[in-house]
Amino acid sequence: MDSATLHEEIHSFFESAPPLKDSAKITDKLNRFIHFDSPSSGKGRRVVCVTSGGTTVPLEQRCVRYIDNFSSGHRGAASTEYFIKAGYKVILLYRRGTCQPYCSSLPEDPLLECFELADDSNFQVRQSHSEAVKGAIMNHHAAVAGGLLLKLPFTTIFEYLQMLRIIASSMKSLECRAMFYLAAAVSDFYVPWKSMAEHKIQSASGPLDMRLMQVPKMLSVLRTEWSPSAFCISFKLETDSKILLEKANMALKKYKMHSVVANELLTRKEEVTVVTENGNISVRRDKTRPGSEVEDPLVELLVKKHSTYINDAIAQDLVF
Ligand code: PMT
Repeated sequence: MDSATLHEEIHSFFESAPPLKDSAKITDKLNRFIHFDSPSSGKGRRVVCVTSGGTTVPLEQRCVRYIDNFSSGHRGAASTEYFIKAGYKVILLYRRGTCQPYCSSLPEDPLLECFELADDSNFQVRQSHSEAVKGAIMNHHAAVAGGLLLKLPFTTIFEYLQMLRIIASSMKSLECRAMFYLAAAVSDFYVPWKSMAEHKIQSASGPLDMRLMQVPKMLSVLRTEWSPSAFCISFKLETDSKILLEKANMALKKYKMHSVVANELLTRKEEVTVVTENGNISVRRDKTRPGSEVEDPLVELLVKKHSTYINDAIAQDLVF
């Protein structure tokens, strides 16, 4: 596709999207987060935007039905913790209701399973969950209060891409200190808002014929226009291992990504392959350590690659 057609498709996607609620508030929050240097967040920190969870595609404006993309949000939540540990400020663009940083040790229904009534008017944390609850609250509070974590939720593909564009523009001034880590599972097809049924589609009318438009890939505009000096990592998920690396390599070249993390649905928690211009690197979870996660060595590797990227920019005098 030539660049004029892509721009036209992107323009028509955003034109047809329902306006993002609170966009001025989001921009304000982002600017304060990016430019606020608390003693703990330090001056001139690197900032990473981690995207996480799947986007939905509404089929009706007053939405009853929607198409969803699979992602539990575990990759994004765990990676957020490792980036913060590595000294980054993290903007987590996440799907409402998916896994959250510092909550992996909590049970599925934390409110009902972690708390019990002490008497008629007081409740307390159950002894069996007290360490997990304390850890989650303390780590989360430290990250937010220290100016290291900003969480922004989305549900639909319209919200996700509008928010990604705002985040990228806000991060533009960080130049090479900015990183995008695009782990969200993003819809490839959508129904334009203006041609979408307003009310619940009636099943009495018989089988449903629906034409979905292709969601324009925003990766190339992110790289070339929204935040051109940022270090960009995208993800490639496949269920067929035979085509995975080939598709990841195509994405690397087509969208000019700095790395593409290739993963297979069934083994994604055990191993990933980081595909780069200079070859592929296999990254595995350390099975000898109980509770270890593949995101630990993955983030470590990407942080090193980001450092090299920044140092190269400094050497070429590209940094302010
Ligand atoms: O959340 P978990 O359960 O832990 O699982 C993690 C994961 C498997 C979801 C994650 O590791 C992953 O692979 N995420 C990307 C999955 C995906 O949807 O890949 P894709 O081939 O559709 O997209 C590739 C890239 O293009 C993505 O980085 C996406 O941000 C981007 N994209 C996709 C579609 C689109 N219209 N525009 C885009 O920019």
